[in-house]
Amino acid sequence: MSALSQCIQSARASYASSSSSSSSLKNKRGARCRSKKINHHHRKLTTIITRAEGESNRKTSGTTRAVVVTSGKGGVGKTTSSANLGMSMARLGYSVALVDADIGLRNLDLLLGLENRVVYTAMEVLEGECRLEQALIRDKRWRNLALLPISKNRQRYNVTRDNMNTILDLLKKSDFDFIFIDCPAGIDLGFINAISNAEEAIVVTTPEITAIRDADRVAGLLEANGILDVRLLVNRVRADMIKNNDMMSVKDVQEMLGVPLLGAIPEDTEVIVSTNRGEPLVLKKKLTLAGIAYENAARRIVGKQDFLIDLDQPKKGIFQNIKEFFTGEDLD
Ligand SMILES: Nc1ncnc2c1ncn2[C@@H]1O[C@H](COP(=O)(O)OP(=O)(O)OP(=O)(O)O)[C@@H](O)[C@H]1O
Ligand SMILES: [Mg+2]
Repeated sequence: MSALSQCIQSARASYASSSSSSSSLKNKRGARCRSKKINHHHRKLTTIITRAEGESNRKTSGTTRAVVVTSGKGGVGKTTSSANLGMSMARLGYSVALVDADIGLRNLDLLLGLENRVVYTAMEVLEGECRLEQALIRDKRWRNLALLPISKNRQRYNVTRDNMNTILDLLKKSDFDFIFIDCPAGIDLGFINAISNAEEAIVVTTPEITAIRDADRVAGLLEANGILDVRLLVNRVRADMIKNNDMMSVKDVQEMLGVPLLGAIPEDTEVIVSTNRGEPLVLKKKLTLAGIAYENAARRIVGKQDFLIDLDQPKKGIFQNIKEFFTGEDLD
């Protein structure tokens, strides 16, 4: 085990112990009111999940949907979104492959807590050293979720478009309902390779002008490459800043880009905690707002009714503030 892996392991161990003590502290402080509201929605979700559990591990639709998660600008939340959407889809009962196309700078394994289990990658599959099934890392929590790292040590330019196409073809022939491809930052070769065999795209942006301009460029490139089914995920939204006119609203961002809205994810410090623990937000017992927003976006991907639709009803407090960016229906 490398020194870095050991550091990650010990950091994870300390997070695990601090989480149990902080949760008991939280109980003592009686932060029950907010949890109660969130849990109301979580309970609804749990019902859906329970129904879906029995459906896991089988291909549900007959065709595989290959969705590339991309952005243009780096660091806006592609990997966080891929991990959370993939996990949510698995919890909804779909069979999901997450492809880490950020070659050389892979992160998805860390976010999913699977970093110690990367033995083979897609490159070994292509070189005939192992079977696809051996390179797919099945999540222990949800066996219908699998991660496929493309490469452990190569640079982007070592992986050709043909390589990516072959990998995607192999995955499409396997038993997956969804393939989510976590794209590298930028619009160079890594991006072109990552989108080459996808039929759908999720463009992630933050409500900042630099990210929006890059998202616009990416949306154009996707269209030019024949990917017409494109949806927008606005990440790191802050209701307080929107209220003070310090941040563009989700509606403004969506109108600037002219791409249908898949969802909006609030800024949430729990994202950092969940990354450090290797547990996507959507696995938390008490979902935070960002976790709910990811679950909501996942349901919209499969065209299910938005389970947060009743947020249209007058609500008090934080739910009222975030109503606009959760309920994207009228923006589509
Ligand atoms: N909703 C959020 N709230 C708070 N922090 C977030 C949120 N989404 C992402 N982050 C943080 O932003 C940083 C970048 O996220 P992430 O790695 O998912 O972006 P990326 O687009 O994949 O980056 P890259 O282009 O480098 O691959 C991370 O530190 C992550 O924890
Ligand atoms: Mg990333």
